Amino acid sequence: MADTFKIVAFTGSLRRGSYNKAALRAAQKLAPEGVSIEIVDLAPLPFFNEDVEAEGVPAVVEEFKAKIVAADALLISTPEYNFSIPPVLKNALDWASRGDVTPVNGKPLAIMSASPGMLGGARVQYHLRQVCTSLNLLVINRPEVFIAQAHTKFDEEGNLTDERTAQSITRLLKALVEWTNKLKA
Ligand SMILES: Cc1cc2nc3c(=O)[nH]c(=O)nc-3n(C[C@H](O)[C@H](O)[C@H](O)COP(=O)(O)O)c2cc1C
Repeated sequence: MADTFKIVAFTGSLRRGSYNKAALRAAQKLAPEGVSIEIVDLAPLPFFNEDVEAEGVPAVVEEFKAKIVAADALLISTPEYNFSIPPVLKNALDWASRGDVTPVNGKPLAIMSASPGMLGGARVQYHLRQVCTSLNLLVINRPEVFIAQAHTKFDEEGNLTDERTAQSITRLLKALVEWTNKLKA
């Protein structure tokens, strides 16, 4: 049997009822056969501080980095905060960019965003792409998945109810696997 293709997913939202968390859970259900998606909670990561780093990288950070190392690819679904990247997500990426092992270097990544607004977080995606250039995260360009008016696309339990969004996420996951396999070849 073929090995499972492992995707590690995370979001910049800590909100219990987060649409982005719900989008990641939807992705888990929509994952193609042979693909597993583990959602990693970024809440336990402390604020990045070079003093803390010098004293010893916290175990939770090492665990986070180890998960990225073991992943075939990454998936981020993020909110847009004031047209940009939520601090929780930027903080996680900053930790992952440090040390002898920089697990994000060369790692394939797919991005999506969800917002109650009309643009679905379009602006944060372009800021995030800029940061990914610094980290040498290899972000796929297409398809772009913007979950606009997110409050109309999930039910009260956070289940995705919008078929077009489900199709977009399915295409994104397929493209991520294809992109990763192309990079490995
Ligand atoms: C500090 C802050 C700034 C925000 N700025 C934006 C913004 O620039 N664009 C946008 O579409 N939504 C913005 N929002 C609204 C978020 O899109 C909304 O709260 C969304 O539900 C957050 O994602 P989540 O559901 O995954 O927590 C902002 C929310 C907060 C708390």
